Amino acid sequence: MKVKVCMGSNCTLLGAMSLLDQIESLREIIDENEKEYRDEELEIESIKCLGYCKDTDADIAPVVIVDDDVIFNATGQIVMEKIMDKMRI
Ligand code: FES
Repeated sequence: MKVKVCMGSNCTLLGAMSLLDQIESLREIIDENEKEYRDEELEIESIKCLGYCKDTDADIAPVVIVDDDVIFNATGQIVMEKIMDKMRI
């Protein structure tokens, strides 16, 4: 599974760094409890702004992409649940 966290300025201002930390902590938890999760690498990547925030006047930051699902206004809870739902056996 690939998780991309936008680290553009808008997303960083609205907490992307904290999201990145939380996702990395979740990866450690998944590694420690490997029997409960699919045998799949959780790849985490920080990316530059893909332009979502520039295409709209709405507040959409921070943006996280889990596989092909783009999550706007991402919170730790939403992102963690998404990852765990997909990874859990
Ligand atoms: S800074 Fe994250 S979408 Fe633009």
